Amino acid sequence: MNEVENPTLPYEHHVLICTNLRPDGRPSCSGSGAHELLSAAKRKLAEMGKAGTSRANASGCLGRCEHGPVMVIYPANLWFSCKTPQQVDRIIEQHLLRPDQQLRAKEPQKESTS
Ligand code: FES
Repeated sequence: MNEVENPTLPYEHHVLICTNLRPDGRPSCSGSGAHELLSAAKRKLAEMGKAGTSRANASGCLGRCEHGPVMVIYPANLWFSCKTPQQVDRIIEQHLLRPDQQLRAKEPQKESTS
């Protein structure tokens, strides 16, 4: 694809999760469960009906290895250190839902607490 001919962004959101493994024994995301987190991100996007408009991909080293596994959401440029699939789910829900969807997502919580 040529950016000059098609300047539109292909996705609303791009979720990158580092799955790099540093072979010298230093901390790296792959050794800290990053592949499981990437699977969780892909599953969550599919559950939210966003598989066609947002994408989760493995990335190489993002340069923050000591905080891994590292997840970045673009174009918002939000960086996270994630440890569990539940954290990935929560972050994706929080940052990828449109405002009108966030309101709908909160409604059941309000009903259950009253
Ligand atoms: S190995 Fe993941 S940020 Fe470097």
